[in-house]
Amino acid sequence: MKVRLLLPITGLAIGSMLPRVLVVALFTCNTNAASLQPSETRQQWEDLEVITLDPQGNPAKTVYYSYDQLLTLPTVTVKTDRDPNTKTPATYAGIYLSDLFEVFGADASFDVIGTNSLDKYKQYYDRDYVARHRPILLLKFDGKAPDDWPQTEARNMLGPYCVVHESFSPSETIYGYVEEPRSPYAVVSLELTGFSQSLGRFTPKASGNDPEVVKGQKIAVGSCSACHNLRNVGGQMGTPWAVLAASAVTSKDNFRKKVIDPSSLHVMSNMASA
Ligand code: HEC
Repeated sequence: MKVRLLLPITGLAIGSMLPRVLVVALFTCNTNAASLQPSETRQQWEDLEVITLDPQGNPAKTVYYSYDQLLTLPTVTVKTDRDPNTKTPATYAGIYLSDLFEVFGADASFDVIGTNSLDKYKQYYDRDYVARHRPILLLKFDGKAPDDWPQTEARNMLGPYCVVHESFSPSETIYGYVEEPRSPYAVVSLELTGFSQSLGRFTPKASGNDPEVVKGQKIAVGSCSACHNLRNVGGQMGTPWAVLAASAVTSKDNFRKKVIDPSSLHVMSNMASA
């Protein structure tokens, strides 16, 4: 109890000191971020749009970074045996998301980077995921710029950006759900947001200690949120979460089947079976 009471107080003290400390830290430590020149408008099709969200999760500021500028950031080059989108071996060059957090000046105001894809698919990268799986914002595929990238196996456009991993070891399995790599393709913008404005919205308000509810929440965050939206959080591909929640009550068995076997919900498998 004591710890809980203390936290808000220290939070307040730190909060009032933070802005000054950060301004100094940004200028002294992060020459790369300082040298990036964001533009107010899109100049090239492959410019990366970076949207800062406000505490309500609505866009507060939007800037664009050119592909060439991103190439000036520290990049890594790694090989993978099997790129999940093209199903071929590949050499990736890109920026660790952990470095992007620094480039964009991560502070108390954002601790999650979200990706928006052309088809309104969404992924979120929280600090925990980033530390465990070391995702990379892809800049070069087999040494080539996005214009020359191969298509995905399903003949979709891979670029202008995607997020890839050198390798991926799932850290958990819940029923039929095995933690999946968050590997969006056709990423056109990034969102700088906070955990409580993004994945944290999927935290159940009631029954939070029920182990089954916790499992459901982990599946929702790890899979469903990429396509189903909770108002302005999550992908906008499938039915809104509130509608799903209602159907979970009215057609429980059908919903249970979909939750227990989420792979049956994949859009491609739906299309294939149609
Ligand atoms: C790759 C995107 C994607 C993911 C991930 C995804 N869904 Fe969906 N889902 C859709 C789309 C698109 C639809 C609507 C069209 C359809 O039924 O194929 C849908 C429909 C549904 C429906 C039926 C809604 C209705 O109106 O009948 C349920 C229930 C559902 N999803 C639950 C889930 C759950 C639970 C998860 C996570 C375990 C999940 N979905 C993950 C894309 C997705």
